[in-house]
Parts: sequence; structure tokens; C-alpha cells
Amino acid sequence: MTESCFTLLAKDGKARRGRVSTAHGHVNTPAFMPVGTAGTVKAMLPESVAATGAEILLGNTYHLMLRPGAERVAALGGLHKFMNWPKPILTDSGGFQVMSLSELRKITEQGVEFRSHLDGRKHMLSPETSTQIQDQLDSDITMCFDECTPFPATPDQAAQSMRLSMRWAVRSRDAFRRRPGYLQFGIMQGGIYEHLRQESARALVDIGFEGYAIGGLAIGEGQIEMFRILDFAPDFLPEDRPRYLMGVGRPADIVGAVSRGIDMFDCVMPTRAGRTGAAFTRFGELNIRNARHATDPRPIDPNCTCPACTSYSRGYIHHLNKAKEIVGAMLLTWHNLHYYQELMQGLRRAIEAGTFAEFVMDFEAGQARSDL
Ligand code: GUN
Ligand code: ZN
Repeated sequence: MTESCFTLLAKDGKARRGRVSTAHGHVNTPAFMPVGTAGTVKAMLPESVAATGAEILLGNTYHLMLRPGAERVAALGGLHKFMNWPKPILTDSGGFQVMSLSELRKITEQGVEFRSHLDGRKHMLSPETSTQIQDQLDSDITMCFDECTPFPATPDQAAQSMRLSMRWAVRSRDAFRRRPGYLQFGIMQGGIYEHLRQESARALVDIGFEGYAIGGLAIGEGQIEMFRILDFAPDFLPEDRPRYLMGVGRPADIVGAVSRGIDMFDCVMPTRAGRTGAAFTRFGELNIRNARHATDPRPIDPNCTCPACTSYSRGYIHHLNKAKEIVGAMLLTWHNLHYYQELMQGLRRAIEAGTFAEFVMDFEAGQARSDL
């Protein structure tokens, strides 16, 4: 039996309002998890990340195993203490990052052999080692070790890859140390194929996890195709468990996925964009590097209550960005994370109030404005 760590509080259409309970506290869903890859949300102190309203962070097995090493983090009290983030942490299992970052990868039934992108040294990640590393990090939510099926893939390629991930899911579950407040999520694969998504969901539910992720999306298929898959994939998963869409996304992707029954998200978008000059707002995206902001005394968004918008002009942040000043990245990252968390709070309140459809209409009308 799996422990119930999820309470479904309200529904509006397919959109769900819930709460995930972990050893380090509750997470209200729909939730957005800022990415803290290497033990830091880039350009933010953890207390500032908490001030934006974030209740959970994502950490990466791949990065932390290579530097500083899981044993070092464990010896220093676990990832929460190490990085001064006392709230819940979810860790990705490393398979996805190995494929995008490391060199000379070799996938076998056993796992993935690879060379570190840092120093070229050889490492092995398997369902067992990934699960053990996430345990050493003291992750509240451990992810199964999987293969993110590349896009595009033929039905046969997607099936082979998904079935390998399902065999790995059995081994990940066997390696997971069960204890109260600690959750493990299975990851659905199957590419763009409905019958494979269903087969994958059945395999995972058969094993039994505290939550379920949908993997293998937002990897080049585009929003229309992703939404087509999200029209059926969440329905294959149990109603009483959290659903996490991995690596998504832009604000419009999140709103569309919540309306299709997704509860949790992570993405580098708000933090990475903040370091390259992009700001997300109720009125769409703007790039502060654009020359028209150079002499603009207005804040990014006059209605935003983040530190960047309450105290600094577009002209100043434009200057910081052009001069590559670190504070420029800090202010934009803060604004973006604040915007994302406010969006999630808006989604949660709308689902509770039964006004989700109106919220989506207002969101879409706002994003279409072009007078930024
Ligand atoms: N991050 C984004 N997509 C994926 C996926 O399919 N698997 C894993 N483990 N992480 C991801
Ligand atoms: Zn702001």
C-alpha cells in the first residue's frame, strides 16, 4: 500500500486544487517549483525564493552527485540544511540531465554510463544508485530513474524506451526507502502515442507510487501537440494522487495544463529568462534589453508587488542588464518567480471559487496585450 500524501480540496472542470504533505511541510497545488539545480536557485537567496510564495524547490541528482557529491551533502546535514531551504524539495532522478549534459553516454538495461560534463570522469546512474543518491540528499519527493524518450520517435522506439523506463520504475520502487512524509513519483512515458501513455500509466499504477509525473513532453513537440496529449494522459492516472508535468513551462503552458488536470510543474523558464533579460507579466513577455526601455521611468509592471517593480525603473534594470551587473539578473529573476507564484495562487483561488474558466479568459486576454 502507498501512503496517502495528497488531499484533493476542490475541482473546477478538470482543474484540481490540492495539497501535498511531506516531511518538510505542505505544498498547495497547483504548484510551481523553482529549479535549484546545483543547490541554489540561481541569483536568489532561498529566503527570497520563499518570499515569492514558493513552497517547494526542485533539485538535481545529476549535478549534485558530481559536485559536491551526495555523501558530502549528507554529511553536511542533507540538502535542506546544506542550502538553507527548510521547506519541501523534489529531486529529479538524473536520467534526463545525463542525456542533455554529459558526454559519451551508454544506455544499457542496467542504467546509464556517462562521463561528467565537469571533468570527464566516468560515472554510472541506475535506478538503484539514483534512488540512493536522492535518499542521501534527503529529498522529500524522489523521482523514478527513467529515460525521457526523444522527440520525434516512432511508435516502436517510443514503446521500447517506455518499457525500459517501466522496468526501471520497478527497480526504483524496490530501492526506495519508505518512511513517513517521503514520497516517490513514477514517471509516465510513451511519447505522443495514446496507447503507450495508457500502457505506461497502468504499469506505474500497478507498482504503486505516492504520485505520478508525466515525462517526455516539452521537448520540441510544441504546445498544440503537448495539449493534445494532456487531453488524455492525466485521465489515465489515479484521481487521488498528485500529477506532475515535468519541465513545463511558460505561463500559458501551465494554465493550459492545469485546465487539463495537472497539479505540479517545474521549469528553468522564469529563472533562466531572468538572467537573459526577459520578464513575464500579466501582459505577456518583455525583454528589458530592448532599447525602448532605456529611458522608461516606469516599473516592469506597476501592479506587481515584487522588489524589482516597487523600487526600480525599467530604465535602471535595462542599464544593469546591459552592464551585465549581477543585480540586474537578481531583480528580473525575483520578478519572474514572483509572477509565477502569483499566477499559481490565482489558479488555486479560481479553482476554489469555481471561477476557473473566467480566470483563464482574463489570463488569455491579458497575455494578448501588446502595448508593453
Ligand atoms: N524533465 C523534463 N522531462 C523529463 C522526463 O521525461 N524525465 C525526467 N526524469 N525529467 C524530466
Ligand atoms: Zn515585479
